[in-house]
Amino acid sequence: MRINPINMPAPKTAAAFKPLSILFAASEAAPFAKEGGLGDVVGALPKYLARMGHDVRVVIPRYYSVNLKKYGLRLLPGTLVVPMGVIGFQYCGVWEGRLPGSDVPVYFLEHEAYYGRAGLYQQDGEGYLDNDNRFVFLSKAALELCKMLNFSPDVIHAHDWHTGVIPVLLNTSYLHDRYVGDAASLLTLHNMQHQGNFYPGLMDVLGIGWKHFNYLELEMDDQVNLLKGGIYHATLLNTVSEEYSREIQTAGFGWGLEGVVSERANDLSGILNGVDYEEWNPAVDSFIAAKYSARTVRKGKAACKRDLQATLGLPQRDDVPLFGVVSRMVKQKGTDILAEAIHRILEMDVQFVIVGNGEPWAHFYFGDIAALYPEKFACYIGYSEALAHQVEAGADFFVMPSAFEPCGLNQMYSLAYGTPPIVRATGGLADSVENFNEATMSGDGFKFWHHSAAALFDTVGWAAWTFFNNPKGLAALRRNGMKKRFTWEAAAQKYDELYRLAVLRRRGAEYYRNRFGG
Ligand code: ADP
Ligand code: GLC
Repeated sequence: MRINPINMPAPKTAAAFKPLSILFAASEAAPFAKEGGLGDVVGALPKYLARMGHDVRVVIPRYYSVNLKKYGLRLLPGTLVVPMGVIGFQYCGVWEGRLPGSDVPVYFLEHEAYYGRAGLYQQDGEGYLDNDNRFVFLSKAALELCKMLNFSPDVIHAHDWHTGVIPVLLNTSYLHDRYVGDAASLLTLHNMQHQGNFYPGLMDVLGIGWKHFNYLELEMDDQVNLLKGGIYHATLLNTVSEEYSREIQTAGFGWGLEGVVSERANDLSGILNGVDYEEWNPAVDSFIAAKYSARTVRKGKAACKRDLQATLGLPQRDDVPLFGVVSRMVKQKGTDILAEAIHRILEMDVQFVIVGNGEPWAHFYFGDIAALYPEKFACYIGYSEALAHQVEAGADFFVMPSAFEPCGLNQMYSLAYGTPPIVRATGGLADSVENFNEATMSGDGFKFWHHSAAALFDTVGWAAWTFFNNPKGLAALRRNGMKKRFTWEAAAQKYDELYRLAVLRRRGAEYYRNRFGG
């Protein structure tokens, strides 16, 4: 997005800093409820915005997995009344907590019928059949919550399709609402593959009138597409890396919405996610066997490697490269090309570990590989926060052969842990990893471009060769990676600018000048 300099928000000198009020509405937030990177982002970015001085609040559902006791949540007095169109009014309770390490309030919507189950989105790989109502409810309840809290946000920050319909609601049934009618919206696109496609009758649950079921707004292939509506209506849009903001305007990455996105290219920018270095830092990580810094990386990683090998039942060998994966096991992550390449990879004198879950075929497939190569391959099928950290620290290389990757966090964690990532150069992987240059000893990882088992195998081979034959190169890779920083402070600064621009667009120059000066 090119920001018109005439419309540029006023410079923010410390004295001139005027805080914004921001509501994050999302389907997950770490550590309360998380399935992937979306949870990491919603659990971290608000903390850093609050440190800048903004009034930030977060709303997510109260799934059964949200532990009320552990986080000391308290039930707020009162009930939210949420208009669900033909379904009628739905009532829900609200729990309140704080994002750990901050004062940021998090509100949890308690609705037994919609959220009283263990999973966030699915069970045994099958999406819940009422996900349409569950997330339309979340979107509407987020707006009703503002009334309950007497909170008028400047900006509502929506994420992916689950809350993607909020910008539509703000421009229709909530346009004249006392609390949110003036709110600007920012829709962050974390993943274009999932769009919230449902039967047309959902229009009657949205209750905004069938005139919005048209090819520009909510209709897509005769279905309601919540993400499409959000892309059309949001004040501004962003993706989680610059490269992905370009990619989604092309057929290969837009999943049918590339045209809709291109129409709004002037309002779309890319902001790379940050790393929460309070969580992902080998110098303070309590999950790993030995804490280490860039100075002690060799010794520290060797201890972590031995510990990981023992934990996963592999021979404790220092003399072989250990490759690690922590990932949802789905096509997006290149699980299919890894499945194809793994036999050839294991012909080398290497070890390989996978921590992940996802599509059932992958559970069986990699389970069988573990049985075939017990000395070389181990996997943990499931979700384990501790193991995710232990792989980052204990592996020599981290493997991410994604077909597409809007940002990706694990490659950035790997860099921080001195574990050079092997990535396919797409989206955030392209933006955050620099390819190793043996001549200049620059770079911090290994990149390949062609999405194929052959290219993956070759690049894993290059890393293995580096491990065996180029110890100075390996040391340089570790050093370069550990020096790199992807701070949430830097990302929060960019979001701050986008929020202000969104307010300017929504409420006009006069309001903006009165409110913020400039
Ligand atoms: P995505 O959101 O597409 O899954 P990201 O790289 O942005 O990809 O984020 C994935 C996040 O989920 C990381 O924090 C990663 O450590 C975590 N994660 C993924 N799978 C597992 C797992 N099986 N166990 C523990 N953590 C996992
Ligand atoms: C999505 C993307 C991932 C990104 C995450 C957080 O889950 O798949 O690449 O890092 O969102 O933005």
